[in-house]
Amino acid sequence: MVRTDGDVMRVSDHVRQDRLWGRLMDLAKIGATAKGGVNRQALTPEDGAARRLLADWALARGFSIYQDAIGNLFVRRSGDDDGLPPVTTGSHLDTQPTGGRFDGAYGVMAGLEALEALEDSGIRTRHPVEVVAWTNEEGARFPPSCMGSGVYAGRYSLDWVCAIRDPAGVMVGDALSSIMVGTKEAAPRDFEAPIAAYIEAHIEQGPVLVTAGETIGVVTSVQSQNLFEIEIFGVEAHAGTTPRASRSDAVLAAVEVISTLEQLGLDGADALRFTVGRFIARPGAPNTVPSHVTFTIDLRHPDNAEIGRMSDLIERLPGEIAAKRRCRATVTRLSDSPVTPFSEAIVDLVDRTRKELGLAGRRMPSGAGHDAMYIQPLAPTGMIFVPCVDGISHNEAEDALPADLAAGTRVLADCLAELAGKAR
Ligand code: GLV
Ligand code: MN
Ligand code: MN
Repeated sequence: MVRTDGDVMRVSDHVRQDRLWGRLMDLAKIGATAKGGVNRQALTPEDGAARRLLADWALARGFSIYQDAIGNLFVRRSGDDDGLPPVTTGSHLDTQPTGGRFDGAYGVMAGLEALEALEDSGIRTRHPVEVVAWTNEEGARFPPSCMGSGVYAGRYSLDWVCAIRDPAGVMVGDALSSIMVGTKEAAPRDFEAPIAAYIEAHIEQGPVLVTAGETIGVVTSVQSQNLFEIEIFGVEAHAGTTPRASRSDAVLAAVEVISTLEQLGLDGADALRFTVGRFIARPGAPNTVPSHVTFTIDLRHPDNAEIGRMSDLIERLPGEIAAKRRCRATVTRLSDSPVTPFSEAIVDLVDRTRKELGLAGRRMPSGAGHDAMYIQPLAPTGMIFVPCVDGISHNEAEDALPADLAAGTRVLADCLAELAGKAR
């Protein structure tokens, strides 16, 4: 056990809030927006620059780096028994188009800070300890989300994701090649390489902790989430001359599909989350009846049966509604993730550690999706939440307090050290 009490210092004593905050602010300059947020979408040059900065920080401290074929970038502090699987932490460096400074970046920087704290403490561990920046967690430019961890864990094939295009027609495979050369000195890493345990630190992205005045969320599960892409096909026609009875208007059909489904999903508990975050109408000329609409439905619920019921409606209703409007619809399920329960042993470890550090907190489920969902079948997995100001996220105004970020990192560092085991 590396955790130490009494005469010997804990690894968390070596976590430096100034170093953590300074790095987060340096990262936030890459893709900084005028409103104080970050636009560093997956596999853009900005994403490449953030990955390079992580690699430079890691190499400067003597850590080694690896990347796999989907570009997941791993930083490793060797263990004394270096053949053992690593104890791993991490999150993502990509952001939403109007993202904040902490969603994802915090988990990667907290992981790097934990490695630095281990190094500063002089403690050797049996297992190696790694921090990973998973590729394209957000799925904002290239849906679905959690792409890198999904491929690593065998949920998606590399070939399938490499053929996915962004709205400009750029394929994941091409964007990936141009990004991965930026860290080409990284040694290769296999998919599904064994992981001894995985703990991801993240801002909560909701209001629970900040409202309760607590510092640490001990995450017990992630709610289910399904993502659909729906296409409606109509016929282009002149906006000034075509009577209503002759129109096959893809936008009007899409709007009816969306409002019908949204109403059917209303529940008294406000548990279902229904979001149409992307809506693209073509040809996009003001005076042509639109012939093609692509939109997404992001659906979340804490109960697998409930999301299943709503998903069945999403599969069935668009075709029926489109037909009434002389249009045609296709529905593609891009991702499908049931409720993810985290390891009881990791949940207990995080909860015990936060109590030992005197930090107020609670056990809680996650409303947001995270890479930890896809690592959970591979290794004992859990997460640590810290509060974000007003619970705001996926917004340039996203903010968090340096002391809270450092507190979560202290919990992370002690948990990783305990899992990695003290070398003799
Ligand atoms: C992650 O960003 C999510 O969509 O929950
Ligand atoms: Mn995130
Ligand atoms: Mn996010």
